[in-house]
Amino acid sequence: MSSHRQEAVRRVAAPDIAARKGQTPVVCLTAYSAPMAELLDEHCDLLLVGDSVGMVVHGLPNTVGVTLEMMILHGQAVMRGSKRAMVVVDMPFGSYEGSAELAYANAARVMKETGAQAVKVEAGATIIDTIEYLVKRGIPVMGHVGLRPQAVLVDGGFKAKGRAGEERRRILEEAKATAVAGAFAIVVEGVAEGLAREITEAVEVPTIGIGASAGCDGQILVTDDMLGLFDWTPKFVRRYGDLRGEISRAVSSYAEDVRARRFPGPAEIYFAKAG
Ligand code: KIV
Repeated sequence: MSSHRQEAVRRVAAPDIAARKGQTPVVCLTAYSAPMAELLDEHCDLLLVGDSVGMVVHGLPNTVGVTLEMMILHGQAVMRGSKRAMVVVDMPFGSYEGSAELAYANAARVMKETGAQAVKVEAGATIIDTIEYLVKRGIPVMGHVGLRPQAVLVDGGFKAKGRAGEERRRILEEAKATAVAGAFAIVVEGVAEGLAREITEAVEVPTIGIGASAGCDGQILVTDDMLGLFDWTPKFVRRYGDLRGEISRAVSSYAEDVRARRFPGPAEIYFAKAG
C-alpha cells in the first residue's frame, strides 16, 4: 500500500444540502463540461448536469431528445472538473417514467458511470412512488415541480405554471408528496412568488428556485444564461456577464490579426535549434 496520503476534499452530499433548509441559501448552477465545473466548483454548493445540455450545448429545440448516454458523458466531465460541490445528474426524458424498475436501472447506471452524488427527476405526480423506490435503494433524488421542460410537447411551450386555481393546488401537493417520498431537495421552476413561498413553507427539504422568486431556500440558473452567452435572456435570468460580447470581440480580433498576418508573431512560433 502506498505511504502517500492523498489530500481528500469531501464533497457536499445530499444530507448536507437537506440540512440547509432555512439556513443560508443554497447556491446552484448548471455545468456540462470539466473546465466550467472547475471554475464553478469553489462558488457553488451544487452543480446540476441539467438535461438543458441538449439545448445549450447540442442545439436541440427542447430537452426531449436528450439521451442517457449524453447525460453520462457530461456527468463524467463535470465530476472530473469539480472536487467539492455536489454533482446531480438529470435523468433524461424516457429514462425513468415507464416504471420504478426502469428508473432504478438507469439511475444506478448514471451513479456508477459518473460517480455523481444524486439524480434529478421531473415528472410530477406519476413519479412519487418511483422517487421512494430509488431513495430506499440508495439513490439520492432531487425532485422538480412547476414548469417541467420535459413536458414541453404536452404543454405547448415553456410557460409559467400554477398561477391560479387547480394547477396551483396540484403543484403544491406534488411538492409535498415529493418531499415525503424522500427527495433531499426540490427544484421549483417557473411559478409565481406566492406559490414558491407556500411550497417552501410546506416542505421540510430545501426548495431550489429558478424563475420562482427569492422565497426559495436556494437558487439555480443555467450558467450559460447568466454569463450572457445567448442573444436572448429569459425574464427570470439576471445576466452577470457578457460572454457573447467577449467572445465576439476576441474572435473578431483574432480574425483581423490572421488576415493581416499579425498572428502568429515572433513570441508564438518555434525557432530551429542552433547547430
Ligand atoms: O436542465 C436543467 O438545466 C434544469 C435546471 C434549469 C433546473 O433542470
